[in-house]
Amino acid sequence: MVDRHFSHPDLAELYDHFSHWRVCPQDDFYLDLVMGAGSVLDVGCGTGKLQRVAREHGHTGRLVGLDPARAMLEVGRRDRSDIEWIQGDLVRGPYDERESDPFEGGFDLIVMSGHAFQVFLTDQEVRDNLAAIRRALTDQGRFVFETRNPGARGWRAWDPERVRVVQGPDGREARCTHRLQEVEGELVTFTSDYHLQGWAEPLVSRSTLRFLDAERLDVFLGEAGLRVSARYGYWDRTPLTATSPEIITFARPI
Ligand SMILES: C[S@@+](CC[C@H](N)C(=O)[O-])C[C@H]1O[C@@H](n2cnc3c(N)ncnc32)[C@H](O)[C@@H]1O
Repeated sequence: MVDRHFSHPDLAELYDHFSHWRVCPQDDFYLDLVMGAGSVLDVGCGTGKLQRVAREHGHTGRLVGLDPARAMLEVGRRDRSDIEWIQGDLVRGPYDERESDPFEGGFDLIVMSGHAFQVFLTDQEVRDNLAAIRRALTDQGRFVFETRNPGARGWRAWDPERVRVVQGPDGREARCTHRLQEVEGELVTFTSDYHLQGWAEPLVSRSTLRFLDAERLDVFLGEAGLRVSARYGYWDRTPLTATSPEIITFARPI
């Protein structure tokens, strides 16, 4: 089931205020890749800001945004209709009941940004999604994604809490408080309390993310018929070290 901060329409409306374009250097990193590819599938696209900005920058090819959260896609769809917005996920579909396979023909580039890959909690989910990604890639295609490096123990930033305050819709103050709940092996659970000025009470979302290390990741990629063609520890393309914040992976079909 999708976390509440993606499925609840009021929280989906807040997403781009907290995660606005260029809030992180990942945005330009991925935009360069998208602009250089003819057809792009963004898995777990959320509000689809990467694809929307690529269109604004003059991308003329096929841009598809896939996400199971209807409320997130609505934010993107409202902004641009010249992107294929598909509700669903790579494994279950059914992608708004289309008759043909929406991924037929393959993509030059598949991305998963904003740590979307970390929503796959079980080995089976990781395997099934990677296999579907391989099928949806052209033979020369690339899958590029990042996952937080467990070696950096980034969840400590949510303990006891991390508060962010931004300007929300209509200039109202929006506040989000992340609180670490538990760390169990690779699985990290935290809550996010959202409050927008004028709301009677906060809306709370609970999330669990998986922190896979690079070695385990590579085993899963290999099983899916993908090999790592480049790897970085941060958006400036510095090499991955034991404590780099990110594991940024470029993978190609074997
Ligand atoms: C943190 S958001 C990232 C959104 C966007 N990629 C970005 O960079 O802003 C994670 C997204 O993954 C989506 N998601 C959850 N489960 C998923 C699944 N099984 N397959 C694909 N996406 C999923 C959520 O709905 C959410 O929009």
